Amino acid sequence: MDRKVIVVTGASSGIGAALCKKMGAEGWCVVLAARRLAELKKTAAASGTCTLIVPTDVTKKSDMDHLKKKALEKFGRIDVWVNNAGRGIGRRVTELTEQDIDEIMGVNFKSVFFGIQAVVPYFMEHGSGHIINISSFLGRVPFATFRSVYNAAKSAVNTLTANLRVDLRHSHPGIKVSLVMPGMVTSEFQKNALHGTPQVPHVTNSGMKPQTSEEVADMLFELIKHPRPELYTNSASAEMAKRYYEDVAAFEEAQFNR
Ligand SMILES: NC(=O)c1ccc[n+]([C@@H]2O[C@H](COP(=O)([O-])OP(=O)(O)OC[C@H]3O[C@@H](n4cnc5c(N)ncnc54)[C@H](OP(=O)(O)O)[C@@H]3O)[C@@H](O)[C@H]2O)c1
Repeated sequence: MDRKVIVVTGASSGIGAALCKKMGAEGWCVVLAARRLAELKKTAAASGTCTLIVPTDVTKKSDMDHLKKKALEKFGRIDVWVNNAGRGIGRRVTELTEQDIDEIMGVNFKSVFFGIQAVVPYFMEHGSGHIINISSFLGRVPFATFRSVYNAAKSAVNTLTANLRVDLRHSHPGIKVSLVMPGMVTSEFQKNALHGTPQVPHVTNSGMKPQTSEEVADMLFELIKHPRPELYTNSASAEMAKRYYEDVAAFEEAQFNR
């Protein structure tokens, strides 16, 4: 088949849905994965003429392996795989339960690991492919403390992605590995967060302008055309990350004394 194929998890809403629509409009075949079938159908209907829906729970390794199998059965190739599904939380470290940790690490971190396990052997066999892991700016600068274990899960995604990239660069230079760190995005993410999303002044006044899912999807399309190791989707992020790592104590003082 001549048309390129992208697999997107978390395709039923927000960034994932916007990316599916963008890629479909650009002539790609799109494989849509998430749990809510009705939402997946709506997204697929707006994602061009070459789509496949695979109901998937990303916290289950067997579902992620099934997703790869179905994509290859239908289209015979996978060019780009986007581990996008994720979920926030609205609890501080001292409020967390073991169940909170299992849920948030499962959907944000283990899902990415399962995605890597599913698709990277296929990419290695073919010597090419692009894996994109959607993390968060909070995985690099954990200044929204109520996201607690979400920040930790995304930090783990950042490290896993960097380690994978360095390993593959030596053995399989044709495989691209990208980490994407959005800032605030106006999707259902705030509403879907486990235990809700509190309004916290130093976060809402952080100076980071919210983006739409469509704006992020456009940036992801550029990343697919011109792969690079990392992408901050919000222009304020790179400068904030630099300040954070230069002097963590000074950054915390400045944030929390606002
Ligand atoms: N919005 C933001 O401000 C923001 C900022 C930084 C990073 N991000 C990251 O961007 C990514 C996309 O988030 P979004 O903003 O588009 O949020 P969203 O609108 O809440 O979408 C989340 C997606 O993840 C899917 N999902 C959740 N749990 C799943 C599971 N167990 N199995 C399969 N799919 C699951 C949901 O589908 P189903 O419920 O249908 O399964 C949905 O499609 C996430 O990784 C998020 O952490 C978002």
